[in-house]
Amino acid sequence: MFACFAVVLAILLLVYRRLSRRGGAPQPSFIPEKIPFVSHALGIARHGAVYYKSISDRTRLPIFGLRLLTQTIYVVTDANLISKIQRHPTISFDPFVLLAAERLCGASPAMLQTMRNEMKDGKKTRSSLMNESHILTHSAFRSQTNLSEMVGKILDIVSGELEHTSAGDLFQWVRHTVCLASTDAVYGPQNPFRVDTGLEDAFWNYDADLSLLLLNFLPSLTARKGHFAKKALRQAFTNYFRNGGSEKASGFVRACNEANRKRGISEEDQAGFEVVHCIGLLVNTPPTLFWMIYHIFSDPDLLEKLRIELIACLQPDNIEDSTAKILDIEKVVSDSPLFQSTFKEVLRAHASSLSTRIVLEDTSIGSDILLKKNAVVHMPSACLHSDPAYFGPGTESFDASRFLPGNLLKEGMAAKSQAAFRPFGGGSTLCPGRHFATMQILSITALVVLGFDVVPERGEWVCPRVLESTMTTTVLPPKEDVRVRFERRRDPRVGSLRFKV
Ligand SMILES: *[C@@H]1O[C@H](CO)[C@@H](O)[C@H](O)[C@H]1NC(C)=O
Ligand SMILES: *[C@@H]1O[C@H](CO)[C@@H](O)[C@H](O)[C@H]1NC(C)=O
Repeated sequence: MFACFAVVLAILLLVYRRLSRRGGAPQPSFIPEKIPFVSHALGIARHGAVYYKSISDRTRLPIFGLRLLTQTIYVVTDANLISKIQRHPTISFDPFVLLAAERLCGASPAMLQTMRNEMKDGKKTRSSLMNESHILTHSAFRSQTNLSEMVGKILDIVSGELEHTSAGDLFQWVRHTVCLASTDAVYGPQNPFRVDTGLEDAFWNYDADLSLLLLNFLPSLTARKGHFAKKALRQAFTNYFRNGGSEKASGFVRACNEANRKRGISEEDQAGFEVVHCIGLLVNTPPTLFWMIYHIFSDPDLLEKLRIELIACLQPDNIEDSTAKILDIEKVVSDSPLFQSTFKEVLRAHASSLSTRIVLEDTSIGSDILLKKNAVVHMPSACLHSDPAYFGPGTESFDASRFLPGNLLKEGMAAKSQAAFRPFGGGSTLCPGRHFATMQILSITALVVLGFDVVPERGEWVCPRVLESTMTTTVLPPKEDVRVRFERRRDPRVGSLRFKV
């Protein structure tokens, strides 16, 4: 009797599996909601990518789906699957470029129509503006001459600022200093952020409302500050281009300007694109620099080791002054293993990049995953970065030596962790400014580490909570003030410091 029942059950199961296979590969598992229509939306609004990570920690699924009203989102947490998705021809980022042009740049209807016409099957074509800008941006930020010129300017400005910095909230200081220094370096003497000192606040208002602006539901009501800030930024950059500001700007801006003018793009539309370039330029560097300073100065042992390593990168300044030393930025970027490991660990621990794609048509990945047309794919770095399978034990804590040559190698994980290390995204959306950002962050940190003691005003360092809700910032900024004093050091090993880029 019992055996008979078992046989019937086995047959039923077989039939069931056949039937359920008939529609092709199954979709990824969907995560049910405690409160239908509400839980996921609220989770994402409040915790951003951290919400995905909490589901991933709980379920350990390599890919899972979420339903938000009519929108399907797939979240991918496995490095292997991510690399397949990034290479897949029917999964693309390009439709978001169009969306950003409309909602974040405020592109004119004519501009949008041109961009749409230049797309085929939902993707950019070879000679399109989208492809041309993509290639131009990558090549501008690969050119060593372009990079050295910009980083040199940034260091001039930051060291000038440091001369009269004494005390304040660390993140505010970093953000303001980086904003002025990098926009000066990129936009030249007519930098709109210098012409109108209120523009910086406008930019941070715009940044705070980016998700709502992308959502585009009555933005003048739901994203009021961001909506008006966008207009102010566009106007400021329109004036900049009208007044020939780009002529004395960096190689990148000059090259963009030339390409845009050849295509007959109006100054207003150029200005709109520039507003979005500012997101790339300004949003992630300050929080990364904040966490660098926080982690280094809150660990006296690490601080001293880094000072020794950086002092070894100094060269005597024979020409001008025997007590002066030269900090060679190239040496700092290439010959300081612990410093670089610290930087990578900051990115591992704090980066929360989302890497977004859209599925252009029903797409099978391998034999067992079917992604449905129009779904959004998110590949959050935080899920990978916290996985001990890629980065070894203790991923929940900060370990400045994790990326030292030999440490991950020793565990035989170098290749695995490289594939899973995605602070700058990957594939077609790999950040073009990653070398620029790296040079900028390492060299500013080196200036501070060698020249100053950063002392918390409450007497001890307290790790601030982070702003999780932002879906558009990759390195999550602190949510609470960390007030510090900058105290100049007199270190005979350092002397007076000059730098060379
Ligand atoms: C973009 O342009 C480059 C160089 O012209 C070309 O190699 C590449 O295939 C183009 N990309 C697309 C998507 O057409
Ligand atoms: C800077 O980048 C632009 C754009 O790619 C390029 O045209 C220019 O030649 C570069 N400048 C230098 C000095 O390499």
